[in-house]
Amino acid sequence: MNQPQMGGVAALNVPGYVKHRGLIDWVARVAALTQPDRIVWCDGSQEEYDRLSEQMVQQGTLVRLNPAKRPNSYLACSDPSDVARVEDRTFICSARREDAGPTNHWVDPNEMRTTLDGLFAGAMRGRTLYVVPFSMGPLGSPIAHIGVELSDSPYVVTNMRIMTRMGREVFDVLGEHGTFVPCVHSVGKPLAAGEADVPWPCNETKYIVHFPESREIWSFGSGYGGNALLGKKCFALRIASTMGRDQGWLAEHMLILGVTSPQGKKYHIAAAFPSACGKTNFAMLIPPKGFEGWRVSTIGDDIAWIKPGKDGRLYAINPEAGYFGVAPGTSEKTNYNALATLKDNVIFTNVALTDDGDVWWEGLTKEPPAHLIDWQGHDWTPEIAAQTGRKAAHPNARFTAPAAQCPSIDPDWENPAGVPIDAFIFGGRRSTTVPLVSEARSWTEGVYMAATMGSETTAAAAGQQGVVRRDPFAMLPFCGYNMSDYFQHWLALGEKLEAAGGKLPKIYCVNWFRKNADGEFVWPGFGENMRVMKWMLERIEDKATGTDHLFGISPRYEDMDWAGLAFTEQQFEQVTSIDRDAWRHELALHGELFEKLKHRMPDALLQAKARLEAQLEG
Ligand code: GTP
Ligand code: SPV
Ligand code: MN
Repeated sequence: MNQPQMGGVAALNVPGYVKHRGLIDWVARVAALTQPDRIVWCDGSQEEYDRLSEQMVQQGTLVRLNPAKRPNSYLACSDPSDVARVEDRTFICSARREDAGPTNHWVDPNEMRTTLDGLFAGAMRGRTLYVVPFSMGPLGSPIAHIGVELSDSPYVVTNMRIMTRMGREVFDVLGEHGTFVPCVHSVGKPLAAGEADVPWPCNETKYIVHFPESREIWSFGSGYGGNALLGKKCFALRIASTMGRDQGWLAEHMLILGVTSPQGKKYHIAAAFPSACGKTNFAMLIPPKGFEGWRVSTIGDDIAWIKPGKDGRLYAINPEAGYFGVAPGTSEKTNYNALATLKDNVIFTNVALTDDGDVWWEGLTKEPPAHLIDWQGHDWTPEIAAQTGRKAAHPNARFTAPAAQCPSIDPDWENPAGVPIDAFIFGGRRSTTVPLVSEARSWTEGVYMAATMGSETTAAAAGQQGVVRRDPFAMLPFCGYNMSDYFQHWLALGEKLEAAGGKLPKIYCVNWFRKNADGEFVWPGFGENMRVMKWMLERIEDKATGTDHLFGISPRYEDMDWAGLAFTEQQFEQVTSIDRDAWRHELALHGELFEKLKHRMPDALLQAKARLEAQLEG
């Protein structure tokens, strides 16, 4: 792929099928700035994927897994400093600070452009600039949007091929003048002439930058996940949420599932849980013993784009084409469908390598293998782990796998019209305080629940873990604009649908993660979450009863279907009890959030809070 160089500038090599002058000029400008050795336009073919993978195997970035065990699959181990999203280094550079809001890091766009010009100058020296065209959502669908990522990371290219509809067909859709979101990514490690590369190039300095008005993304210094696969959190959430604000739709950190009753009635549910709090698992749920005849099908596991339909209902699509899922804790027992999805064509990142060339992570099997190479390349044995506490896989280790391989994939998962949503679920990871499930009595009460949601932080983001923070709508790290405006957008959408005579989805709040005094989860979770979902569906049909409490309606023990599970009334009490003192403290935390967001905070939410306080003290 050595291309002739002209005056130190790599040849553009524009393929004949690319007709978009604006795009070509942009690639030329970025290349002039970043100075790559070569420019390669990706066509999305299997041949290209195989070639790049082989190149990364030679380079040491990837290990090819044993084809007898895991055909066409690879393991990548990242630099230990580059293992998760970096929220501290993520910026929303709107023209006005108040449009980014107090929950986002804001820098003046002109100042940021100067910074980026400095960082990106010569950043791709010695490397190849890949032009990666992709569609979020089915190609050519009226709800899909196109992006083009310019990246110097072949790992990003092969991951994007799984995660998005990537390839030359995108240029057909774009034509000569189509709109696309320009995404520029560099690992930030230029190579001097003759300098050897490292397996996982990255830079200590990291910038993940969004310009909401011009709908642009610039990412520097990281090669990992949401920092680098720019179609995912940067485009499909941060930029898309601002598009949704302007155009009247929603971009959400939600799974989408279908659930079919034994009578053949199908419902659709969208659920927002913070990072590493159970979306992939819930989306692929297998109903437990006692629920024969129920079926759950998967539409998406991380992101939903949701638009009002002409009938006044909300329709959701999954803009992605693959799963970038958490590996640790995933097993045939907890998530059979995920394991089946991972049979072949997978890129694993930061899991451990077995002696027979396969992968392992904590929770995959009950008994760990006697010997592994851990994600940092060290020998690992159960004895070493017991002595040092070292994990074989990084807690944020991930798999990248094609969605179409999932046995529970829904026949409608690529339906360009989307699926109609019957209920929204919001859930955090809370050891205490928040009960198993409650139903909001109104749209506003539901928005309040979602807005004030708290969750214990996880390894999906760099920083301290296990501390409760407010994570409104599971969107704290992903909302591309002012969070108060985002709440207002949700409230307004509800009003609009109601005025149009539409059927609003019911809103629920759940918590699978309550713990007992010994620190163990009380609720069995996973497939058993179906029991909670069944109660919700019966509520939608007006068939189930519950009890009113402080902030919603919850099932009593006898309102739930316990067929096939020994779960006592005492255990149920442990996951549903409401401790008034804990809730006083909780409301104080809601108050702190509202104080932070007071500029432009919708009145309706302040009133909802006042009602809650009155009830608590009443
Ligand atoms: P992101 O991809 O980071 O957005 O995460 P996600 O929300 O898709 O999380 P995922 O389903 O991958 O789950 C993360 C972790 O939570 C895994 O270790 C799971 O085993 C665990 N988990 C998921 N569902 C449950 C549950 O119902 N109960 C318990 N106790 N753990 C769960
Ligand atoms: C998350 O952190 O919510 C993820 C993984 O889904 S990442 O793509 O890195 O954002
Ligand atoms: Mn996510």
